[in-house]
Amino acid sequence: MKTLTKLAGLGCLLLSAPVFAAQCTTAQQHKGEALFTSECSVCHSVTVGGATKMGPNLKGLFGRTSGSLPGFSYSQAMKAKAVEWQMQSLEQFIASPQAFVAGTYMPYMGLANAEDRHAVACFLSTQK
Ligand code: HEC
Repeated sequence: MKTLTKLAGLGCLLLSAPVFAAQCTTAQQHKGEALFTSECSVCHSVTVGGATKMGPNLKGLFGRTSGSLPGFSYSQAMKAKAVEWQMQSLEQFIASPQAFVAGTYMPYMGLANAEDRHAVACFLSTQK
């Protein structure tokens, strides 16, 4: 019985790994990079030690708490939100920044297309 449970657990691991990887294809990452360049890079750098533009550097964004990059003057709203940036929170935020973080300084209307939002999040997830 114990062995069976272990095997079942292993099966789940083996099954869930490819499903997770499939959340972001290379094509989506590339599409996201192009979208980031056209939609976000005017205000955000994404390189190590990249310039602070109007918005904070987004290198290593995933796993970071909102409003926590040292040296950047965030809105009180962004700091108070204290959300961890990952796929879901990021996709929600860029759909409508003001709706997700009421009072944010980010002057961006939002990306209307859900696939585009996912692609941008896929790209940023690779910027570790
Ligand atoms: C016109 C400038 C501008 C554009 C365009 C813009 N941003 Fe921002 N962004 C900002 C500013 C300013 C902030 C700080 C917001 C605050 O403190 O409330 C910010 C904050 C953020 C944060 C929070 C970072 C943190 O450290 O908590 C994320 C994530 C983000 N932007 C992603 C994006 C993405 C992705 C795009 C493109 C789809 C984008 N932004 C487009 C100006 C911009």
